[in-house]
Parts: sequence; C-alpha cells; structure tokens
Amino acid sequence: MNRTLGVCYYPEHWPEDRWAEDARRMAGLGLTHVRIGEFAWSRLEPRRGHYEFDWMARAIDTLHAEGLKVVLGTPTATPPKWLVDEMPDMLPVGADGTVRGFGSRRHYDFSHEGYLEESRRITLALGRAFGAHPGVVAWQTDNEYDCHNTTLSYSSAARAGFQAWLQRKYQSPEALNRAWGTVFWSMEISDFGKIELPNLTVTEPNPAQVMDFRRYASEMVVRFNRAQAEIIRAHSPGRDVIHNFMGRTLAFDHFDVGADLDISSWDSYPLGFLEDRSDQGDEWKRRFVRAGDPDFQAFHHDLYRATSKGRWWVMEQQPGQVNWAPHNPAPRDGMVRLWSWEAFAHGAETVSYFRWRQAPFAQEQMHAGLLRPDSTEAEGFAEAAQVARELGALGETLDAKPGRADVAIVFDYPSAWAWEIQPQGREFDYFRLVFDFYRSLRQLGLSVDIVPASAPELDGYHLALIPGLFAWTPELIAAIRGFDGKVLIGPRSGSKTKDFAIPDTLPPALPKELLDLRVSRVESLRGDTPVRIAGGGTFQFWREFLEPGAEVETLLTSEDGVAALVRQGSLHYLGGWPDQELMRTLMQRLAAEAGVATKDLPDGVRLRRHGGHVFAFNYGETRFDLAELGWTGEPVLGVLVLEPSGVAVMAVAGAGYLIRT
Ligand code: GAL
Repeated sequence: MNRTLGVCYYPEHWPEDRWAEDARRMAGLGLTHVRIGEFAWSRLEPRRGHYEFDWMARAIDTLHAEGLKVVLGTPTATPPKWLVDEMPDMLPVGADGTVRGFGSRRHYDFSHEGYLEESRRITLALGRAFGAHPGVVAWQTDNEYDCHNTTLSYSSAARAGFQAWLQRKYQSPEALNRAWGTVFWSMEISDFGKIELPNLTVTEPNPAQVMDFRRYASEMVVRFNRAQAEIIRAHSPGRDVIHNFMGRTLAFDHFDVGADLDISSWDSYPLGFLEDRSDQGDEWKRRFVRAGDPDFQAFHHDLYRATSKGRWWVMEQQPGQVNWAPHNPAPRDGMVRLWSWEAFAHGAETVSYFRWRQAPFAQEQMHAGLLRPDSTEAEGFAEAAQVARELGALGETLDAKPGRADVAIVFDYPSAWAWEIQPQGREFDYFRLVFDFYRSLRQLGLSVDIVPASAPELDGYHLALIPGLFAWTPELIAAIRGFDGKVLIGPRSGSKTKDFAIPDTLPPALPKELLDLRVSRVESLRGDTPVRIAGGGTFQFWREFLEPGAEVETLLTSEDGVAALVRQGSLHYLGGWPDQELMRTLMQRLAAEAGVATKDLPDGVRLRRHGGHVFAFNYGETRFDLAELGWTGEPVLGVLVLEPSGVAVMAVAGAGYLIRT
C-alpha cells in the first residue's frame, strides 16, 4: 500500500498568483494530496444560481499540474448569507430555544428539507463541473458533522421530522405510549402531532423519548451525508467519498455514516484535545502538555478504522499550536512526526496536515500551518518533510494492512446517548468508561480493534470487552455464542431494553446458559467514596450487587462481601467501574487467561502492532530503551533507545506476539 501525506489548502484565501508556487512547494515537500473547497460556497455561488466555478477549475488545474491529487470538499458546512436570508428557518435551534444564527459556520438544521435540497443542488453542480476532472481523486462531504454541537436542533423542522419518524416507528399512539411508559407523570399522547421535542421541560424529560430523539437526530445526519454521497458517486465515478469525523464526538452514529463512505477520516488535534476533551487530572495534562495524551489519538484511529471497513485517513493533523483550546501550547519537537507515524501504525492510508499556510485574518489567524503567514517554513514543515522521506525509504516494507489486533472492544453510540440521558452518577460517561479500558490495554502493550455492537465480528480475537452496553443486539449475543476467546462484560451492560426500560429478568439479561446472573441493585458513588476490592484496587463511581446463579464462579469480591467479578465458562461479568490499579490487574488476568502476553509500559511509551511490524512511540519526556522489553536487533526505522518524541519500527517474527514476559 502506498502511504501518503496531504495538506488542507484554501486557494480562495490567497492571491491567485501564489497558487502555482504553493503547489510547487507542496509537491517538493513530498505531499501528494490536497483538500480544498469545503468552506468556499460564497465564492462558488455568490448569488442564487450564479455559479462562479472558473477559479476553482484553475485551482484544481494548478494543483494537478504539479501532480497533486485533489480531495474536493462540498461547501455545505458554510451556507452563504443570501441562502440563510432566503430561508431563515434552516437555522438550528439550541436546547434553550434560541436560534443559532449566521456568522460562523455549521448554521444549518439537519432536519430542514429545504436545506437538504440546497445541499443536493450545490453538490450536484460541483459533481457535474469537477466530477470527471483527472485531478480530483476523492470528495469530502461537508465538514465535521456535529462540530460545535450541531447534531441536535430543536427547531420546528426537527419537531415535524421527529413526529413523522415516530409515526413510522410506532404506527399507533398506543404503541408509543407503551414503549415510552408515558403513563408515568401523565404524559400519554393520543396523536403523533402532539409530541413535543424533549427540551425546555421543567425537569428531565422521558428517557425513552430522548433516546428516540437521539436516534432520529443521528438518522438525519446519515440522511444528509447519504444524499451527497449518492450524487458524488453518480457524477464522479471511481472517486472515494470521505467525511472527516472529530475526536470524542458521539452525537451521531459514526458506524451508520461510515457505511456510506469509502474512507472514514478524522481530524486529529492532540494538544487541543488534551486541554479540552480529556478526563485526566492536571498532573497528567502537565506531563503531556506538548505531546498530547498517549492513547487519545490511537483510540480514534482504531474507532474510525472500524467505521468504514478498514480504509481510513487523518484528514486534518495538528501541525503546530492551535487556537481553540483554553491554552494552546506548541508541540514538542518531533511530535508532529510522531503523531503522523502513530496514524500509519494504526493503518492510515493518508495523513493530511491542517493547514498549508497560517491565515493572517479571521477566526483562525492564531492557528499554525506548515507555513507561517509570511510563507516561511513553520516548525511542522520540516517534520512533515521528514515523514515524507521516511515513508519513501520504508517503501513497501510495511504490510498493506495492520491485521487483526489481540483484543476487541465493542463500541456503541446508542450506549453513549443512553448514559448521557440517564447517567445515574455524575461521572458515568460512556466514552470515559470505554477509554479507561482501552488505555489500560495500551499500557500493557496490547493492540486493540474496535467493533460495533450492531455488526460485531469477534472471530480471531483472544479477548473481547463489552463495557457499559445499553441494550443487547441480537447480533452481539450471536457473536458471543460463537466466540471462542474470553469475554468481559460490564459494568452496566445489558441493563436496559431497547425501549429504555429495566429488563424483566433484571440486568444483564443474557440467556441463562450464557450467564446465569442478576444485578439486583446498583449504586453510584462519589469519587471520594470508592468500594474496596479484596486483593487490591477499588470500584469507583459505580458498583452493582451481583447475584450469581449456581453455574457461576465468583473470582473477586468487594471488602464488604459482594461479588465483584464472576465467570461462567469464558464469560466474565464485572460489577463496577475499576480504578486504575484494579483495571491493570483485571486486564492482566484476562490477557493471561486468553493466552496473550503483556508487559507494563511506562505512561509515555506505547506500542502498536502492524502486520509483521511493531511500532514504538515515546510520548514521555524521558528516554526509554526498548531492550527492556526484550527487543534486540536493528529497527527498520529509528533506534532501540527511544528519545522523547522517538519512533521505532521493529520487524516481528510471524504471527507470534510481540512481547513475551
Ligand atoms: C477543525 C475544522 C477546521 C479547523 C480546525 C482548526 O475542527 O475542521 O476547519 O477549524 O479544526 O483546528
């Protein structure tokens, strides 16, 4: 496989006489892909029906003349002023009932039929104009769905759409009343047209109603994306359809959107994310202030790889300081290179830097590019050049695909919505729970694949984890039955029906022959009142009272005498949220049972298996000698003594495990 580098470029921001020189420098740097156009609507169609595509044609020609491959964005994240003035009800409405107006970006409502039509119209016009251009190799639909929290809108368009969706789903008001349990607090309705959106209520709305609203809103994103994808496929055959997802964004089901893409991509801003999207404490943030969290990017690489059957990119890679987090430090020397390699280690085809040149004007003028505003090289430039050289030198040494990881974690967007709707304890956040498990596996040197609950393929894994699952899917139960590895379920998994009710048999509601267990009650805990587990570690935030059946073995117990970890056959159930210490012993124990070797890594050092190679990364500030893992010989990239920001790639023999303890 040819691994490539790219960049995000805005020809409309620069005088046209600079484009050719920019293109020449991009190609000289070793970049092959350029994404353009995703916010350019006001220049592409300054007035309704008055298309000005000539400049775009010249921009594409200029890039193509240097051999650069264009990823053309549809500009629908930034509808122009004239369009918003024509139909002001296309604007999204916040949960507080106020209209989110024109003046930045993403000012549209996914439910608005008129805007959906407009998005089709501009996509079609662009598809007809550029779909067959030999320089255009791929398209990006819109830009970062849900950025600035824009999946949910409480507009009249959303209300009408939701009512129609509910009517299709339930057919009769009685069925809806039953499913939601609207007899509670006299919420029964007799007509779908009477259903309100779940905002502006005195206290919490009905959870089943909110859950349906979340499903509906997610489907609106899927519909919007699919409409563009279909047009692009019809008018630009053979080109890849891509969307750029974001970090820790759960408002729509990325597996469902990904099903309509050829390539999933995401926008990776490690330092911004550490500042504003991490649950870690200040000490951790200080340690990784210039490196980013050692697991956060990796998690999203693994997650998004799973959303489009393996093909994925980083569409926007942080190249220097950003502008949007509470603090915006510069990356440590070498980190732009390390982040790029971490993406390739997880199977990325392309890593594209955001952006080519820092803009001296407007909202993002403080955001670094590969070039400074005066066109001199910024710090990231040399690191991108180094990655380009290294990619060239490694050539075809690496396998095409990363191959199957040791461990699978089931990830499920509806579960994220469910625990947001009904957390029961302030800290019960689905992403945080899953990410705790993920981090702990990485700390033990393991590589992880993410699999969706809707279509889980578990064959070939040694261990599968199913934390915090809202409701069982028949597919997941079937996958567990057919799986011959070890499984860890819980906490809170299977604790609801799909209608957001407690299952008749009590959680975790699995067939008895799989797991004969009842959760008789649960409690959520303050951070300073954890429950101690005999043998070490605690349950934090959440604990369940397990009633194991006759076939079930108790492996761990809390100091106050409640079963904490139980097992029936190869299925384990965990009745709480383990702290770091308990998490590590648990993961070690399960890995050992599953026959997977592990090794404790320092906080800053991480490994990723890629086919016949293993990548090692040093996010930390101290040097680490890979000989401590028992590695010998010459890496194919880098050296065994990893300096801070160091990267090494080692060949490993056959299908054997990387590390043996
Ligand atoms: C991304 C977005 C880009 C740019 C960038 C700045 O979220 O897609 O358009 O705003 O952030 O870091």
